[in-house]
Amino acid sequence: KSYKEGKSKMKESELIALALQAREKAYTPYSHFKVGAALLTKSGNVYTGCNIENAAYTPSNCAERTAFFKAVSEGEREFAAIAIVGGAANAAELDYCAPCGVCRQVMMEFCDPETFEVILVQSGEDYQVYLLKDVLPMGFGPGNLGKREPGKNMKDQ
Ligand code: THU
Repeated sequence: KSYKEGKSKMKESELIALALQAREKAYTPYSHFKVGAALLTKSGNVYTGCNIENAAYTPSNCAERTAFFKAVSEGEREFAAIAIVGGAANAAELDYCAPCGVCRQVMMEFCDPETFEVILVQSGEDYQVYLLKDVLPMGFGPGNLGKREPGKNMKDQ
């Protein structure tokens, strides 16, 4: 499948390749579990992220949130999909790495649960695509505060 909404025709396989590259940058001296993410905006831009750990543990940041915060801090507000790859540093093969609850909540803030796609990768060839609404059922989001619909009208907020 290609994402044809934006300027570029990004393929899922290309987004996965970028997530795998980002995983190489993971800073994980404590868990040795390396995660990479590639976040595609509706306009066709891609922001990558890796997990970044900390000696005090709690300041650690997941790959997905690194990608989101990079993107939002550059002015992006509309997102189409995120590819996520993760596994132990010494793993021969990767297995599906589902986003943690905190990262799902960050997705809920900026993405439309009905359309945003979460791409989980087992290996380069095998991957599964989920909608945010299935990854985070009954999620609490901006719409619950009556401010706006999730994923909609985010540009001027
Ligand atoms: N981690 C991520 O970056 N993303 C996920 O989806 C799951 C967990 C990181 C956090 C921590 O650095 C390491 O993986 C082990 O939990």
